[in-house]
Amino acid sequence: MLHISRPRTVTSIVELRDVVRDWRRAGDLVAIVPTMGGLHEGHLSLVRNARRRAKRVIASIFVNPTQFGEGEDFENYPRDEVRDAELLASAGCDLIYAPSVSEMYPDGFATSVSVTEITGPLCGSHRPGHFDGVTTVVCKLLNQSQPDYAVFGEKDWQQLVSIRQMVRDLDMPIRIASSPTVREADGLAMSSRNRYLSVKERKIAGKLNRALFASADHIAHGIDLDRVLEACTKALLTAGFSEIDYIEARDSATLAIVNRLEHGKEARIFAAARLGKTRLIDNVPIERTGMAG
Ligand code: PAJ
Repeated sequence: MLHISRPRTVTSIVELRDVVRDWRRAGDLVAIVPTMGGLHEGHLSLVRNARRRAKRVIASIFVNPTQFGEGEDFENYPRDEVRDAELLASAGCDLIYAPSVSEMYPDGFATSVSVTEITGPLCGSHRPGHFDGVTTVVCKLLNQSQPDYAVFGEKDWQQLVSIRQMVRDLDMPIRIASSPTVREADGLAMSSRNRYLSVKERKIAGKLNRALFASADHIAHGIDLDRVLEACTKALLTAGFSEIDYIEARDSATLAIVNRLEHGKEARIFAAARLGKTRLIDNVPIERTGMAG
């Protein structure tokens, strides 16, 4: 039987830097995959992506309190270190970095990294302060580990473009790579939060991605964008979603609102919808066809 040993776990910045220093002395490239744990196949695809780029792969597990709003699920966020370590071992991770909240935010911590403009719409307008929490912790994780690469998922597209913007603006010498969204058999985007869904809600949840892919297809075939998105919203509410935070078509790079498709520009449909207490997000590309105007 093949035995895969669990990767070493470090919890302090000093230990992390020691390990990374040894790797660098050996001439190895280093990649990091930041996560909040509760791992699934989507996270593991990022680890495999990182492995293709760098000999050494770090996965960080840190449930970052500053990116959760009041009344959100920080306290209940899934935490399962043993299972996470086993999954990471199977995907080829070399080191788990799992700092405590006080290691990340010692007493007196007073700095925030804030990316403007692209963090304004979509989740930015529904989760005030969320992206400041994300960019601040990702900036710290990148400074702490000083990797060659960091890998993020396209499922959180607004997060991905915000991090790219931060790295560019702050001249951080790190390449940001991304991996496509990994989905369940019915197309539901994998998420640590899917485990909150009841059996009934789980069945309804699969309709979100199907509605988005169908809408993207209609728009690509020239059907009026506003009408398509309105119909999509109605269909999801009828299907059992309790609330739609947004369903919008936006430019993939700038996140500017898109009213009609333009040549040479890539657009996506972005959605956030609530099923009971669970908030689901997804995004899909609007693939142009020959017929699109
Ligand atoms: P978390 O939700 O744990 O996600 C960690 C990484 O996994 C992110 O880059 C996210 O986009 C990616 N991911 C999640 N679900 C995915 C899926 N179904 N397919 C592909 N990739 C997926 O995102 C965060 O944590 C945090 O905001 C973090 C960046 C770690 C900062 O705290």
